[in-house]
Amino acid sequence: MLRALQLTKHYGNFTALDHLDLEVENGEIFCLLGANGAGKTTTINLFMGFIEASAGQAYIDELVVRPGDAKIKQRIGYIPENVMLYPELSGLQNLAYLSQLSGKKYNKTQLSNFLQQASLQAEAIHQPVAQYSKGMRQKVGIALALAKKASALFLDEPTSGLDPLASNEFSNLLQQLSQRGVSILMVTHDLFRAKEVANRVGIMKAGQLVEVLDANAVSHSELERIYVETISAPLLAVGA
Ligand SMILES: Nc1ncnc2c1ncn2[C@@H]1O[C@H](COP(=O)(O)OP(=O)(O)OP(=O)(O)O)[C@@H](O)[C@H]1O
Ligand SMILES: [Mg+2]
Repeated sequence: MLRALQLTKHYGNFTALDHLDLEVENGEIFCLLGANGAGKTTTINLFMGFIEASAGQAYIDELVVRPGDAKIKQRIGYIPENVMLYPELSGLQNLAYLSQLSGKKYNKTQLSNFLQQASLQAEAIHQPVAQYSKGMRQKVGIALALAKKASALFLDEPTSGLDPLASNEFSNLLQQLSQRGVSILMVTHDLFRAKEVANRVGIMKAGQLVEVLDANAVSHSELERIYVETISAPLLAVGA
């Protein structure tokens, strides 16, 4: 479970995130949409403890997120647009090293199983990651979340640049993770993918979460219409 309570981030006089209240249940997939600069990455960075909140709290399960806290790091998986791996090492070697950093030690068979559960082709497992496509690198990220037994997974535009088949496969992997009880918060600009994969979809605007929708209750075209209307509408001043 992950939760934000009045979570706020200021940069000087500028408010990048404005009193966010959000709860993502175990096994829930929440997709965050919004224009460039709306505060989506800021939200993820706060949840992951990459930056410090100006006010409010983020929680992973029962733990308050504090920057640099190793207990938090062990519980979370992170998939940015480009998963950072050691290019000269194989997928399996990367997974061995990165899972060890979070206190987990596995043998080669176990590591290989995680990679296969993440749908990485068997023949790629021992190839240097430098030869991997973007989608294959993201599968290593999923395998790491599996190996860490992460309870929360954060994704920041993971499917941008993936072809539709790879993107569809990626959605299926997220759904499998959610069935294991992982809470998933995914930032995306892909309305179609958000509607397909999420339980709920939120729209952020100027640091505020201004709309939350049940993904099953809207069609693709309704979601697009609501998105456009929400983003184009003038922002109400707080308290107005
Ligand atoms: N270190 C920083 N110093 C000052 N302003 C910052 C800093 N980091 C982010 N911001 C500002 O905070 C706002 C929110 O940024 P954020 O990266 O969260 O946007 P985003 O919704 O992820 O946008 P995008 O869709 O372009 O990735 C932006 O206006 C950005 O310029
Ligand atoms: Mg961003």
